[in-house]
Amino acid sequence: MDIIRRVDEMMRWVRERHAAGEEIGVVPTMGYLHEGHLSLCRLSLADGGHTVATIFVNPTQFGPGEDLARYPRDEERDLKMLRELGISAVFMPTPEQVYPPDYVTYVDTAGPSQGWCGATRPIHFRGVTTIVAQLFHITQPNRAYFGQKDAQQVAVLKQMVRDLKFPIEVIVGETVREPDGLAMSSRNVYLTAEDRQVALVISRALQLGRSLYEEGERSGERLTEAMRSVIAAEPNVRLDYIGVVNRRSFRAADVVLPMDLFIGAIYVGNCRLIDNLDVCPKVYPLRD
Ligand code: PAF
Repeated sequence: MDIIRRVDEMMRWVRERHAAGEEIGVVPTMGYLHEGHLSLCRLSLADGGHTVATIFVNPTQFGPGEDLARYPRDEERDLKMLRELGISAVFMPTPEQVYPPDYVTYVDTAGPSQGWCGATRPIHFRGVTTIVAQLFHITQPNRAYFGQKDAQQVAVLKQMVRDLKFPIEVIVGETVREPDGLAMSSRNVYLTAEDRQVALVISRALQLGRSLYEEGERSGERLTEAMRSVIAAEPNVRLDYIGVVNRRSFRAADVVLPMDLFIGAIYVGNCRLIDNLDVCPKVYPLRD
């Protein structure tokens, strides 16, 4: 497994593979890897060609007062996990490589980046599109893999790929959960044992939304209200948002359709957690 820290080296590595007619799948991450990331690498490995994982804690997607400084990092552990998987290369640039002192260019977003996480974290998606556009240019992948857990990020990045005509297939891997239903996230490390139990309220609320839909409820407002009351009954949680949206536009659904998504974000202890659930499992192809 090649470990590459410089942009020019990574670009040379990619040029050589493409010149040999080999394809590349990229798995962008911020490190502190868990089974969710590894499952994306396995999807890429199964698709053939080379798999390149990127590890970069991207400062431009963290707002003031967010967890950039304490975001968990463990380079050695990440590299061991990736080596065991058998991927071809890891790109882990320094912040100076990505954002030199005179850096001024950003990929602006609208549409699906508005509302929800975009309301709570106003500069977040602009940072995500900016780094992912850079990573796409540097790694020139045929395919890029992202997790459904960050559903709004997926909608924003698919929009960017369409709008900016990146010749890249975006492949979305299903959310990987702990046995008790908590969606895997690098940030789960912030949770105490008690927080960890309390955090399950978010998947319970989303599951209730799905059960009510299955029983015939189609009103976005009533489903949202029912999910909100599950969160409200848990005293140690602060609600950021909960709702049901069109998975492509991220507009709230008035009349809920099978391909829509239940989405939520909560604060537990000093941690903000997001999660989502398909209104109807398996009706919408994750690959498009
Ligand atoms: O999902 C993430 O880990 C990050 O937002 C990403 C896509 C790697 C960009 O920094």
